[in-house]
Amino acid sequence: MIVLSLAEIADVVGGRLHRAEPGAQVTGTVEFDTRKLTPGGLFAALPGEKVDGHDFAAQAVEAGAVAVLAAREVDAPAIVVPPLPAGEAHERSVALTGDKDGSGAAVLAALAKLARHVVQRLAEGTLTVVGVTGSSGKTSTKDLIAQLLEPLGPTIAPPGSFNNELGHPWTALRADAGTRHLVLELSARGPGHIAHLAEIAPPRIGAVLNVGSAHVGEFGSREGIAKTKGELVEALPEDGVAVLNLDDPLVAAMASRTKARVVFFGESASAQVRATGITLDDQARASFRLVTPAGEADVQLPLHGEHHVSNALAAAAIALELGSSPDEIAARLSAAERRSARRMEVVTREDGVTILNDSFNANPESMRAGLKALAAMTRDTGRRSWAVLGVMGELGADSVNAHDEIGRLVVRLNISKLVVIGPEAAAMHQGAHQEGSWGEESTLVPDVEAAVALLHDQLRPGDVVLVKASKAAGLWRVAEALLEPRETDNSENRSNGGDA
Ligand SMILES: Nc1ncnc2c1ncn2[C@@H]1O[C@H](COP(=O)(O)OP(=O)(O)OP(=O)(O)O)[C@@H](O)[C@H]1O
Ligand SMILES: [Mg+2]
Repeated sequence: MIVLSLAEIADVVGGRLHRAEPGAQVTGTVEFDTRKLTPGGLFAALPGEKVDGHDFAAQAVEAGAVAVLAAREVDAPAIVVPPLPAGEAHERSVALTGDKDGSGAAVLAALAKLARHVVQRLAEGTLTVVGVTGSSGKTSTKDLIAQLLEPLGPTIAPPGSFNNELGHPWTALRADAGTRHLVLELSARGPGHIAHLAEIAPPRIGAVLNVGSAHVGEFGSREGIAKTKGELVEALPEDGVAVLNLDDPLVAAMASRTKARVVFFGESASAQVRATGITLDDQARASFRLVTPAGEADVQLPLHGEHHVSNALAAAAIALELGSSPDEIAARLSAAERRSARRMEVVTREDGVTILNDSFNANPESMRAGLKALAAMTRDTGRRSWAVLGVMGELGADSVNAHDEIGRLVVRLNISKLVVIGPEAAAMHQGAHQEGSWGEESTLVPDVEAAVALLHDQLRPGDVVLVKASKAAGLWRVAEALLEPRETDNSENRSNGGDA
């Protein structure tokens, strides 16, 4: 963070000082976990389901905090903000912090104000805020953008998907006078959420990747999702840049909703930043020619799945805006690494079984992307492909249909085996049957344990296994179990594989 006195911070967040020296300065980072504090830091006391940060005030000061940002007086120097009345912000922070009395909402609102103040001051200097949103690929793209911008100057980006009302200000508050780029992922569960996040750290460059059906249950329709995602480009200033996917009509249409200059990316010939001649290797890694107004260069993406081409183009368009050449961008994309876990993580066991751990989350679009990668990795190789899939959540009235369609796609892509986990996902199993009248190729099992038992029993060297579902299904447990070293092949724990 930039150096601020407690009096300045109290002023910015609308709080009052309690036992605190007005002139004392915060020189470190803002943390909500006392274990992360360093000398000169500020501790944000958040209530939680089990523990309340306010009870750790003294510990925070011992760990180096100059003061505590709190919703009530604590046993330490503090900036105290009043609890918020119940309302939308309150409901979201209840979900986030387990807050019962509005105190979590109050501290989150204070963090938001502080972050906005800091970012605005830094943006008057050399800081550029880059925001990315979309239904799928925000985290993967945020990681690519960070890797393209880091060589251009100090860059801050959140770890993983830490993109909510807490992660957003927490990340923004890590920026200081030396920071050149702040790369943020903006996600929404309802109207106004992206506008709110964009107020906390106003982006100058904003990219929209795609509009899918994630959370369609909450938004009502894809148009509803597009309306909310477009809040990002509405927040951009006149001297900003909106980076939009021309291959997605709902995204392309957002061009009319922004004051900023528009740069289109995609495979379409009229996109300014585009990919031509895309090919996939037997690991489903894409190679393509990156075509831009500033020149062309060849890219070999080390990430698995053709869907990363679109993400890479968005990242390339942003890096171009910030001064990179196509050659530099192509070289950096070709050396990119996967930074966030459980997204197309590919590991091959000693016996030659390859696990595609894509278990972080799922929606119909990312399911399709994962299945296509699985198919590309096994096509013409003689390897058997396994799709081990669980429920896709929050799809509302369309849920059964969406699961049915995925089951059908598995058959159409010629995947060797489908294992559907849990009764909520049963429509995938039924869809597969109806599409291809499979016999033993699709199995419905009740839970993770049954799936693991079946796979331990049936996997053969060379098989490729995709593991994917919405986060709530916790299917990384399948991937992890398959990757654990096993003592013996005929373990007593084996069950008979489920109820087909
Ligand atoms: N452009 C894309 N189109 C479809 N699927 C994608 C795309 N990019 C990534 N995915 C897949 O979507 C899943 C989630 O990826 P990622 O975590 O990057 O997205 P996200 O938008 O941040 O998700 P979340 O909303 O869960 O934070 C992964 O399975 C990933 O492989
Ligand atoms: Mg994410």
